[in-house]
Amino acid sequence: MSEITYDYMEDYIRGLIPDRSGILKEIEDFARENKVPVVQKETGVFLEFMCSMKKPKRILELGTAIGFSSILMYQASGTEPEIVTIERDEKMIELANSNLKRFNLDHKIKIEEGDCLEILEKSDEPFDLIFMDAGKGHYNHFLPHCLRLLNQDGVIVADNVLFRGMVASPELVKRRKITIVKRMRTYLELVTQDENLITSVIPMGDGIAVTKRR
Ligand SMILES: C[S@@+](CC[C@H](N)C(=O)[O-])C[C@H]1O[C@@H](n2cnc3c(N)ncnc32)[C@H](O)[C@@H]1O
Repeated sequence: MSEITYDYMEDYIRGLIPDRSGILKEIEDFARENKVPVVQKETGVFLEFMCSMKKPKRILELGTAIGFSSILMYQASGTEPEIVTIERDEKMIELANSNLKRFNLDHKIKIEEGDCLEILEKSDEPFDLIFMDAGKGHYNHFLPHCLRLLNQDGVIVADNVLFRGMVASPELVKRRKITIVKRMRTYLELVTQDENLITSVIPMGDGIAVTKRR
């Protein structure tokens, strides 16, 4: 049960998505087999859709894992974008670097090693698209920095915003997840209530929020 949408709907929509092939499929299969939390199938396609529409020249990603979504975004943008992606787990960084090399993308996709918030605080280069996919309990803390770094027409795509349904339903909330859930609700309130922003919350995958300036 995803607790975000009906299982039959999710299965149907996933069934429509063609399997990936080649190295990307190998990376995706490795992630699923080794429980590396990469984007769900439909979220991956959504991200590709956004990149193909927006044609970003510079992308910031919070949460590299093994580089799967970075590679998807690079390929879908069609602009040979520069991608900066932040990751703090050494093992993930090692695997991501070797995956980027397999695509010859290690010079286009730069992994910033460390904590997202610390790196965001020190960053000042602008981005056309920001993908938030790390530190679910800190999206509300990342937001001011992401808005500061976002170009006038830029877009923020935030994954996991409904967090297994817990964000929308008190009955689903597990005790040890209360802080993450409260902070994620704060994030969603901030991006939906700010009159300078327009945000669409989509019950897809684990919940996606897409935000841009009005
Ligand atoms: C959901 S995974 C990213 C998946 C990746 N975007 C993909 O779909 O291919 C989240 C990653 O963020 C990393 N992470 C979590 N909190 C972080 C933080 N505060 N700073 C840096 N990395 C963090 C984790 O180690 C994990 O590898």
